[in-house]
Amino acid sequence: MWDYTDKVREHFFNPRNVGEIENPDGVGEVGSLACGDALKLTFKLDEDGRIADAKFKTFGCASAIATSSVLTEMIKGMTIEEASKVTNRDIADYLGGLPEQKMHCSVMGREALEAAIENYRSGGKKRHELEGKVVCTCFGVTDKEIERVIHENNLTTVEDVTNYCKAGGGCGGCKAEIEKIIEKIQGETTTKEAPAPAPRRPGKLTNIQKIQLIQQTINEQIRPALRADGGNIELIDIEGNKVIVAFRGMCAQCRLAEFTMKDVVEARLREFVSEDLFVEEDKESAQQPHNHRG
Ligand code: FES
Repeated sequence: MWDYTDKVREHFFNPRNVGEIENPDGVGEVGSLACGDALKLTFKLDEDGRIADAKFKTFGCASAIATSSVLTEMIKGMTIEEASKVTNRDIADYLGGLPEQKMHCSVMGREALEAAIENYRSGGKKRHELEGKVVCTCFGVTDKEIERVIHENNLTTVEDVTNYCKAGGGCGGCKAEIEKIIEKIQGETTTKEAPAPAPRRPGKLTNIQKIQLIQQTINEQIRPALRADGGNIELIDIEGNKVIVAFRGMCAQCRLAEFTMKDVVEARLREFVSEDLFVEEDKESAQQPHNHRG
């Protein structure tokens, strides 16, 4: 016995908006009777472009009926733009949740809505077409759809994928390929989330290399940070490990100048060029007129 919420039960026993709209503005048909689930969604817009009415016909289990019913309720009053943002999670949440094994019903609802919107946008010409390469022939599920449910629902196992789109739930012949898709997506996510490698300080530098690197670090790492705060920095000279700079703009006579110099400039130069560097402010140029804000 499935653990259904009261709202699922209620929509199953008293489904709303069952049927088909005559002369609809959008029609979406997904699934197939052969696969055990099918849903046809129709909607009509009012003169303001909002969904005035929506109806469904489905062949499926209690949760397929409840999700279809609740979907028609959810989208009434929405613009096409708003309806196009409804996710399968939104549908399941609206029902107070669905058993994991039944999440594919919420995905079917979202697919039917998308198909109906696509049909409306094409002036009634376009019908739902499978995108991508079919991975699961038992249920006609493509790689694109599998990737999408994994991304949108943070799925990590083949069993999850089966729960959300049925792929893998028949003969099982596609499970290895689903596993590969999961690994590929996890690889992408890990790469994206991996912190940027720490900048590496070069080894021993010649004098010329050191000067170039100091200039480059000031240009690329330090000046943009100071500019964001209305200031600027100029490299005056380099004597051994002493880097002489002048602050311009708001930094020139700001009481925080020393702090800025020590904390930002020196730290950055040590990080990117050499640990031995220290920074001094050129006091003469600090006396020059400037646009001090503070
Ligand atoms: S091919 Fe996917 S379960 Fe059979």
